[in-house]
Amino acid sequence: SKRYSITLLPGDGIGPEVISVAKNVLTLAASLEGIEFTFQEMPMGGAALDLTGVPLPDETLFAAKQSDAVLLGAIGGYKWDANEKHLKPETGLLKIREGLKVFANLRPATVLPQLVDASTLKKEVAEGVDVMVVRELTGGIYFGKPRGFGKDENGAEIGFNTEVYAKYEIDRIARVAFETARKRRGKICSVDKANVLEASMFWRKCIVEISSEYPDVEISHMYVDNAAMQLVRNPKQFDTIVTNNIFGDILSDEASMITGSIGMLPSASLGESGPGLFEPIHGSAPDIAGQDKANPLATVLSAAMLLKYGLGEESAAKRIEAAVLDTLNKGFRTGDIYSSGTKLVGCKEMGEEVLKSVESQVPAA
Ligand code: NAD
Ligand code: IPM
Ligand code: MN
Repeated sequence: SKRYSITLLPGDGIGPEVISVAKNVLTLAASLEGIEFTFQEMPMGGAALDLTGVPLPDETLFAAKQSDAVLLGAIGGYKWDANEKHLKPETGLLKIREGLKVFANLRPATVLPQLVDASTLKKEVAEGVDVMVVRELTGGIYFGKPRGFGKDENGAEIGFNTEVYAKYEIDRIARVAFETARKRRGKICSVDKANVLEASMFWRKCIVEISSEYPDVEISHMYVDNAAMQLVRNPKQFDTIVTNNIFGDILSDEASMITGSIGMLPSASLGESGPGLFEPIHGSAPDIAGQDKANPLATVLSAAMLLKYGLGEESAAKRIEAAVLDTLNKGFRTGDIYSSGTKLVGCKEMGEEVLKSVESQVPAA
């Protein structure tokens, strides 16, 4: 049988709740394909701050680098919100993305037929939406220098950040996006703010250059304000969206709501080589943490992406996706995707139902 090592980073808030569900589902689905895992759970985010004084201990990054893939819950919480920059849980997350060099963040927003009624958009608008947001993850304003606090020429206090992109950073995310679009419906929309920002003008120029390597993919460009509007006006016009770090952060939360809930959206963060990082796009949801209310499906589907994109184990990934659909077909819903006539369950029960659906699958021959 095949063996892989997985680093688990439960993190804060609902993180441990959703990771516990995803771990069980991952283990069972993979075992049906003859795959075994060794899990190593490491502290990260606020949990690591409380334990070690830093949001990403060296041991955690080391373990992550040594493993075959990393599955993260979520980090952050009120308790650490006032911390200095280097002592914020969020800084730990940016550091692990940087440390693993996972520059390409795939965030698929798919409206499942079972959840059309959970979308806040009209049925005819939401039905059939299938968008892949390809977000640049290790550059842009999140990492650009100069940054910090200071004073302007008049002595007024300021805070500042810089949006910077090097050509190689845009080229490599563009290639990931074009390859992704090729396997989908062959359409890319590059989202920028090239009417105002130099970094976006440069972004667009590089995207146009790379597009000549992919004549089979249809490329279009859109300003981010228009894209935010178009996503709720007519989301079906989009296939693959490629965009920078901050626009991708914002647009993927927006896209998640078309599918019914942010609690449904998984993600895969990949580099040129080395382990990928897999995490739901949502945060630690401090407002519902510890109440067994979280939707674990975004993390369960992130585990499926781990199998598919991280380990190349497509059949095991399909088992998880099928089990999620089966569970939704049976009517089970957490609060965030509840609609009348369905069965309201908590995080744990949703996890148990997904496990039952995996159990009822036939083992691989
Ligand atoms: P959030 O995504 O945590 O929550 C936004 C809203 O969505 C909340 O009402 C929450 O209850 C709901 N929600 C989120 N996930 C859900 C789920 N699985 N099931 C049901 N409902 C869900 O965003 P926020 O409130 O802006 O941020 C909270 C904390 O999380 C902050 O500290 C932030 O920095 C952090 N954060 C972390 C990550 C991450 O770890 N990748 C991502 C985003 C935000
Ligand atoms: C996300 C989060 C993070 C981001 C924060 C918590 C650093 O919002 O994963 O989408 O902005 O990338
Ligand atoms: Mn975000």
